[in-house]
Amino acid sequence: MSNIEKDLQAGEKPAIRIKIAIDGPAASGKSTTAREVARRLDYLYIDSGAMYRAVTRKALDLGIPTDDDDAVAAISADILIEFRPNKEKTEIYVDGHDVSAGIRLPEVTRAINPVAANRRVRENLVARQQALGKAGGVVMDGRDITTVVFPDAELKIFMKATAEERARRRLRELEAKHISAEYDAVLKDIEVRDHADVSRQHGPLRQADGAVLIDTTQLTFEEQVTHICNLAREMIDDLSQSDDALE
Ligand code: DC
Repeated sequence: MSNIEKDLQAGEKPAIRIKIAIDGPAASGKSTTAREVARRLDYLYIDSGAMYRAVTRKALDLGIPTDDDDAVAAISADILIEFRPNKEKTEIYVDGHDVSAGIRLPEVTRAINPVAANRRVRENLVARQQALGKAGGVVMDGRDITTVVFPDAELKIFMKATAEERARRRLRELEAKHISAEYDAVLKDIEVRDHADVSRQHGPLRQADGAVLIDTTQLTFEEQVTHICNLAREMIDDLSQSDDALE
């Protein structure tokens, strides 16, 4: 039963469920933050980057070079991408197969830039993202969610942190997984990805009008999550008061 149906059955006015759009550069911590915000609000979390990764994974598996714009655009039109939430995390399925681990491999990250720059891929994925989030009650993160996918989101957030701080965080994550890496190489990789994200012709990363800027360089994970949840609750309160005023 949907939440709206539950409210109606309980005789209550349907709760306002907003769209929360979060953008920011690679390794800014937005995915972990967005996922936890969604968990606390009982919202759906959609990782839009996973969709670009899914298209890239499929192209690699089919032996199609990711700079073959026509072939990759055709993949993005046909591919079945599913987010299947379970108790701990959301698994990503492509054409019925679990690709949750396969889309995170370095070979995917290395090959993804032409996919993210492909105009037709972006159009196809943006349309799917809009369909997934249109009913509200969703937290979606990426690079163009606040600017292209949901410029009308009730809450828009732009998360940033210095490249050096993001490199330190990424290094700690890799160490926790017992993957050895050099700080300089991780920093360079982040700088290359930043450049690709901001200089892309279609859907570049930029702070949208009306987006709240959160610089996470000095913030803990808990502080980031609490801040966004508080902003969401304030927004929901404001909207329900203006609804009441209209009745
Ligand atoms: O957030 P991520 O690192 O998993 O994203 C993977 C790639 O997809 C990254 O190179 C940027 C791109 N991307 C995008 O172009 N637009 C989005 N909305 C999300 C991700």
